[in-house]
Amino acid sequence: MDGMFRETSRRAFLRGSAAAAAGATVGGAAAAATPDPLITEVQDWASFTGTGVDEVPYGMPIHFEKDVIRRNVEWLTASPISSINFTPIHALDGTITPQGCAFERHHSGAIELSKPDYRLMINGLVERPLVFTYDDLERFPRENHVYFCECAANTGMEWAGAQLNGVQYTHGMIHNMEYTGIPLRLLLAEAGAQMDENLWVYVEGADASSNGRSIPMAKALDDVLVAFKANGEALRLEHGYPVRLVVPGWEGNMWVKWLRRIEVTDAAVESREETSKYTDVLEDGTARKWTWVMDAKSVITSPSPQSPITHGAGPLVISGLAWSGHGKITRVDVSKDGGVTWETARLGKQGDTKALTRFYLDTNWDGSEMLLQARAMDETGYIQPTKEQLRELRGENSVYHNNCIQTWWVDESGKAENVEIS
Ligand code: MTE
Ligand code: CO
Repeated sequence: MDGMFRETSRRAFLRGSAAAAAGATVGGAAAAATPDPLITEVQDWASFTGTGVDEVPYGMPIHFEKDVIRRNVEWLTASPISSINFTPIHALDGTITPQGCAFERHHSGAIELSKPDYRLMINGLVERPLVFTYDDLERFPRENHVYFCECAANTGMEWAGAQLNGVQYTHGMIHNMEYTGIPLRLLLAEAGAQMDENLWVYVEGADASSNGRSIPMAKALDDVLVAFKANGEALRLEHGYPVRLVVPGWEGNMWVKWLRRIEVTDAAVESREETSKYTDVLEDGTARKWTWVMDAKSVITSPSPQSPITHGAGPLVISGLAWSGHGKITRVDVSKDGGVTWETARLGKQGDTKALTRFYLDTNWDGSEMLLQARAMDETGYIQPTKEQLRELRGENSVYHNNCIQTWWVDESGKAENVEIS
């Protein structure tokens, strides 16, 4: 704080004297075009030294970026303890989500659990029920993988019509991190678990909600990780410190945080989280369960309601994100006319499996209004559906698993709005 204070008062003083000097210069050359003081004058930042390396032991984004933060929508849930906030995807680029602004979803608040207090039990259909400490886990071989985590409720408010005016709110229940973790299959093997493909593992967290979920053994043995690092550093408290489950491509609810127990069972437990919640109401009113994989989806993050075009007609970078729980994104198309014509976008880099892929359409905006859409394709050949196509199956009373094509109406001033075209 001391450093901040000195910085502020020094700046204020300097701004005063710089303004006086600028006044004199401009006055002396009244008829000429106003010179750009950022080019013609020596600036504060070049005249004085900056912050010392002993002042900021762990850095935060510079204060000019103070709006790039998670946001919640108060009316969505009864209490912020069992609630959700949203990643500011309108303001991020590339694919990795910094932990500090990655959406949070908890059913009973984020808990503080230390490494010394941490225990992970594996029991049920195993030869040797085991309890691991955090130190025990660090002695197993670990891997690094980048995966997206999308809450099944992402875009869930949009079923009945365009609702929330910002991509942060319509699509921000997603993050994408590089995890360091132990393949779950290694821990199951250590406990001598039965591994028949018709068995299940039931996973639960140490928080009051416990958020228990049943996962088929085939998935547990495939790519599920017991993770303790994200983007190189320890998981943040809100993302499950010290250990969470990573279930690549599958709905975020199964990514149990503060993981405390894994039970090998011969049947699904049919817990609250997989019966009354996270099931899909269909057009005919019946509910479908076990929709685990998040289908291919994409969205334009800029321009979008929170990221309007501010520079007028001419070169324009249209940018967005695409992902698929089934594997790699192979192609993303962008439409400026509400899906009548499509142009293929450029991928920032080749798509990774079950991870966010960044796309760009480097284009020329003629200044007329646009109905912007993106449409993702994945390596299975699946094509992201329109809202109409999804509604035929799912009606309008659904909440979860809405992966429809999103439309932004961009007007001639460059402002964008969440709309629906029929
Ligand atoms: N795990 C526990 N223990 N408790 C929870 O409330 N919420 C789940 C899942 N794991 C939850 C949990 C849901 S619904 C989602 S979408 C993801 O965690 C969100 O992970 P995040 O908070 O790291 O974004
Ligand atoms: Co969720």
